[in-house]
Amino acid sequence: MADKKFYITTPIFYANAELHIGHTYTLVLSDILARYHRKIGDKTFFLTGSDEHGDKIVRAAQKVNLGPQAFVNENVAKMQELINELGVSNDFFIRTSDKEHHWGGAQKLWRALESSGDVYKGSYKGLYCVGCEAFITEKELVNGKCVLHDIEPEHIEEENYFFKLSKYGPEIKRLLESGELKISPQSKVNEMIALISGSSNESVLVDVSISRPERAIPWGIPVPNDPTQLMYVWCDALSNYISALGYGQADETNFNVFWPADVQVLGKDIVRFHALLWPALLLSAKLPLPRELLVHGFVNSGGKKMSKTLGNVLSPNEFILEYGKDALRYYLSREVSPSEDWDLTREKFKEVYNANLANGLGNLVSRTLKMSEQYFGGAVTGDFLSVPPIHIKISAVETMEDISGMNIPYIITNDILPRYNTHMLAHEINKAADTVWELIGHLDQFVADYEPFKLVKTDKKAAENVIWGLLYGLRVIGEMLIPMMPDTAKKISTLLGASVDNTVGEIIFSTKVLDEPLFRRKE
Ligand code: MSP
Repeated sequence: MADKKFYITTPIFYANAELHIGHTYTLVLSDILARYHRKIGDKTFFLTGSDEHGDKIVRAAQKVNLGPQAFVNENVAKMQELINELGVSNDFFIRTSDKEHHWGGAQKLWRALESSGDVYKGSYKGLYCVGCEAFITEKELVNGKCVLHDIEPEHIEEENYFFKLSKYGPEIKRLLESGELKISPQSKVNEMIALISGSSNESVLVDVSISRPERAIPWGIPVPNDPTQLMYVWCDALSNYISALGYGQADETNFNVFWPADVQVLGKDIVRFHALLWPALLLSAKLPLPRELLVHGFVNSGGKKMSKTLGNVLSPNEFILEYGKDALRYYLSREVSPSEDWDLTREKFKEVYNANLANGLGNLVSRTLKMSEQYFGGAVTGDFLSVPPIHIKISAVETMEDISGMNIPYIITNDILPRYNTHMLAHEINKAADTVWELIGHLDQFVADYEPFKLVKTDKKAAENVIWGLLYGLRVIGEMLIPMMPDTAKKISTLLGASVDNTVGEIIFSTKVLDEPLFRRKE
C-alpha cells in the first residue's frame, strides 16, 4: 500500500473574482482526500491553481482599468491567501499565465494533437458564451440566454483551428460504458453517454474550435507556429493537469511518476469539458486517461443558487473569522453530501457548530481532560484489557495499520475504523466524518454508563480504567480527524500527551488542561 502514488487535482479557478463557498468546497473536498492518502502512506501529489486567460478575464480587467496580468496577479494573491487560510495542503499551484511552468506543456499537447492529424483550419460561425468560455448552440439557450450565466451569447464569425473531437466520440462512449473512464456519481456517466449519442446509437459529437484569433490584447498562449492564433482557453486550461507535473519541460519526472491522475475533482457545471474534451485530447496525444472524475454538486444559499446578482454569496472568510477554519472544514466534510446540491445558511451553520463541535466533540474533550486532571493529576495509565466492556469492543491485537497505516492499536465499536476507511477510499467524506461522530456518541454513552466521577470515590483504579478508555477513544478520534480538521487533530494529540508502547499495547497519557474551549459556544 505504501508504494502507491496518488495524484489529485481541483479544477483551476477563474482569476476574475474572489472564491466563494462553492469553490471552497471543491478545495476542501480535494484536500481531505489528499491528506487521507498521505496519511495512509501513498506518494501523493495534490494540485490546484488558477485559470487566467480568455475573454472573461480580459473584460473583467478592463472594467477595473487594469491590464490582464496585473488584474490576475491581484486576484491570484487573494486566492492563495484563502487557500492558505483554509489549510489546503496543495503540493503545487499552477497559473496558466506562468510561461515557465505551463506554456511548454500546453504547446506540447497542441503539437501532439497535430502529429495525430487531429488539427485543421476552418471557420467558425455561431454563438459564444463568455461566461462558459464556450461555443454554444441555439438549442441550449433558454429565452435567448445561457442558462448557467443568464447572459445572451455573442455572434462570432472567425478563422479557427479545429480539433477532430468527432473522431473520438465512439471511443469515449466505449470507455464510459465499460467503466474504464470512471465518473462518480454514475448518473453523470449516463448524462455524458446521452450527450455523445444524441438520439442515435453512434456518436453525434462534432469537431470543436481549439483556437481564437489574437485580438487587440494578446492574452493567451500562442498556437505553435501561428502566433496570429491563441489556444482556446479550455484547451489551455485543461493542459494544466499535466503541465504542472512538468510535461513539456526539461524535467518530466513528476509527469512520469504521477500521470494519470487518480482523482480529478470538479463541479457539475464543467463535466462535459472533463468527460468529453479532456479525454479526447489525451487520446489524440496518446496519453493515459485519468482514473476517475469525481463530480460534486452545487451550493445554494437560502434555497437559491449562490450568485452575485442575487446578493446571496457567502464568503468563506466570514466563517473562518467567526468560527475558525476547522469549523468550516467540519461543515464541508460532514454536513454536505458530495454528489448532491446543498444549502448553506448562517443559521444552519451555527446550529450544527453548537451541536457537534461546541457540544459533541468539544465537550467530550474538555470533560475527559478535566477528570484526568482532577482525579489523576493528568497521569493516566491503562491497558486494553482493563477498560470495562461498554459499547466498545476492545481489541489490543488488531492495529489500524492493517487498514490504514495509522499504526496504533485501536479500540473500536461496530467496525468504525474499517467503515471510516472504506468511505474515505470511496470519497464519501461525509460518511467517513459520520463515523467519527458515531464514536463520539459511544464515548458519551460510556461516561453515562460508568459515571467515573462517582466511581472514583469508591474504586479509584476502576475509574482510571474508564478515563483511560475515554482518552484512548479520543486518541483514535484525533487520528481520524487529521484529514478533515488538521489543527483540531493536532491540538487533541498535544492535549492527550500519549506515549505508546506498541509491544504490550499499553499507552500512558500525560494530559494537559484546556486553557480555552476547543469550540466556544455561539449564542
Ligand atoms: N476555470 C474553470 C475550470 C477549468 S479546469 C481545467 C472553472 N473555474 S470556476 O472558478 O468557475 O470553478 C471552479 C470550480 O468551482 C468548479 O469545480 C466549479 O464547479 C466549482 N464551483 C463554482 N461555483 C460553485 C457552486 N456554487 N457550488 C459548488 N461548486 C461550484 O470552471
